[in-house]
Amino acid sequence: MEKLSIQLEAVTYDSAEELLQGDQELLAKAKDAVKTAYAPYSKFQVGAALRLENGEIISGSNQENVAYPNGLCAERVAFFYAGSKYPGMAIETVAITAEAQNFSMDRPVAPCGSCRQAMLEYEVNQDSLIRVILQGQSGKIMIVTGIKTLLPFHFHEPGLSA
Ligand code: THU
Repeated sequence: MEKLSIQLEAVTYDSAEELLQGDQELLAKAKDAVKTAYAPYSKFQVGAALRLENGEIISGSNQENVAYPNGLCAERVAFFYAGSKYPGMAIETVAITAEAQNFSMDRPVAPCGSCRQAMLEYEVNQDSLIRVILQGQSGKIMIVTGIKTLLPFHFHEPGLSA
């Protein structure tokens, strides 16, 4: 019998002013993207903005549908768009934020399991870790380095180098 224990590292900040200039900018773009969310059913609007290695910023927001499972999260909208427009281009950092119409989102919003799995594949295929910046509408900001940090024991095919 072997007992495994996993240690995760996250850094928190009290305000955006403490962040690097580029991270502040990315978080601001994610907040802009929140406004483009189509979330009439959940009334929970999510924005994601990612920076590619060429410096370009791509953002996305959650897009819902009356047939509920058809909707897509903000992170996957942004990642899939980046993957289709710039295939093979590494993703350096992603900022994710959300606003809820029915309550105050005052703590970092973390991506759902499906988005973690989807984002992980981009990280596995590139040769560098993706930094993740998380914030709610207000409150502390959390930065995690590496999608694997958010998804220990992730699914991967034996052929993948995860
Ligand atoms: N949502 C995201 O956009 N990202 C996540 O990581 C979790 C949830 C969206 C999906 C749905 O439109 C709404 O938030 C409520 O779940």
